[in-house]
Amino acid sequence: MTHLHTDLCDMLDIRVPILQGGMGPYKTEDLAIAVTNAGALGVISSIGMAATLLPEAAPVDAKRLFGDDPPMVLLQKSIEAVAKGTKSSKGVFGVNVPVAAEFLVASKMFVEQVIETRNADSDIERRLRVLITSAGNPKPWAEVKNHGLIWVHVVPSVYHAKKAERAGADVIVASGHEGGAHVSWDPVHSMVLVPAVAQAVKTPVVAAGGFSDGASLAAALCLGAVGIQMGTRFIATQESDFESIWKDAIINHEERQTLVARGLFGPMRFLRNHRAEMLVKQTLDDVPRFYLGEPVDSNNAILKLEQSGFVDLLDHKSDTALMFGGEVTGRISDLPTTAELIDTIVEGAIKVLAQLPGKVLKS
Ligand SMILES: Cc1cc2nc3c(=O)[nH]c(=O)nc-3n(C[C@H](O)[C@H](O)[C@H](O)COP(=O)(O)O)c2cc1C
Repeated sequence: MTHLHTDLCDMLDIRVPILQGGMGPYKTEDLAIAVTNAGALGVISSIGMAATLLPEAAPVDAKRLFGDDPPMVLLQKSIEAVAKGTKSSKGVFGVNVPVAAEFLVASKMFVEQVIETRNADSDIERRLRVLITSAGNPKPWAEVKNHGLIWVHVVPSVYHAKKAERAGADVIVASGHEGGAHVSWDPVHSMVLVPAVAQAVKTPVVAAGGFSDGASLAAALCLGAVGIQMGTRFIATQESDFESIWKDAIINHEERQTLVARGLFGPMRFLRNHRAEMLVKQTLDDVPRFYLGEPVDSNNAILKLEQSGFVDLLDHKSDTALMFGGEVTGRISDLPTTAELIDTIVEGAIKVLAQLPGKVLKS
């Protein structure tokens, strides 16, 4: 039987070359367990956990989402829960820590917590292999490799990929502008970004932004990537931690129904609804705001729109809920289990790759 196997599988000790992207505001604990048990890399998301550090400035209603635990305890408990939920499959998992300048206070604490929790438990040390940093300068984070972690860094351009390579990243995720949530100011999409990055660096490259099925995984491999990272597609799975209105929105939106507006650290891609349209209007005339470490203007209209958008999310008001998602929402129309999804993607990619030579190579 034919298997799909790339260098990424060997590097991370995973069965299939698929990473689950970090996805705040949730901890993505249940999703990480399901993805890891299905043979891909499940990832815990830390960004929302930081909301309890500065509740008055946080865009998320931290207490409603997470209860009273401080961020470091939340992360430690999440790591322990994912280790427990994946014990029988012995699968490998990771943690995502955004390292944007506005978030650095929290980033340092989260990275230290990952290292501490690994050191305290030999099973966690063996299986919590991967740290994915994103949205910021890679330079300060190479240190994590000295603690036995495989370091993955997310970039939106060739310039940033070269910087990550110089800093020593083990894997580079090239994340195109069609992706969900934070995107770069410079709109370079996956079709241009992925092959450009794969040709510019020697470090293995994972493609992100717009991937959802076997054909797109096969395309990523043709463009020079060793695997894909998916966000939006994983939201619409039975196990994912997201609100049901968010899953429904992804199933029902078409590819034109996303918008880019100002988010936490620069632009974000939202699923189009009334809230997202209000954010776009404010983006045009509001000034940037900062979070954790920098002053936040509590009258800031964007912050208020985001805060009330998250309240409406938890209250399941689908038109005024704040929800992020990528253009690939238009290619998603079902709610499979995570294992069904991963198996279908892999089978689909094998089929496309196996049939392609016969279809296009003529002698
Ligand atoms: C709801 C949502 C939240 C996200 N939050 C994060 C995050 O906290 N950290 C991060 O590095 N990327 C985050 N991303 C980006 C994903 O990790 C992934 O790179 C992206 O979704 C890939 O594009 P796709 O949505 O087309 O699959 C988020 C994406 C979505 C859709």
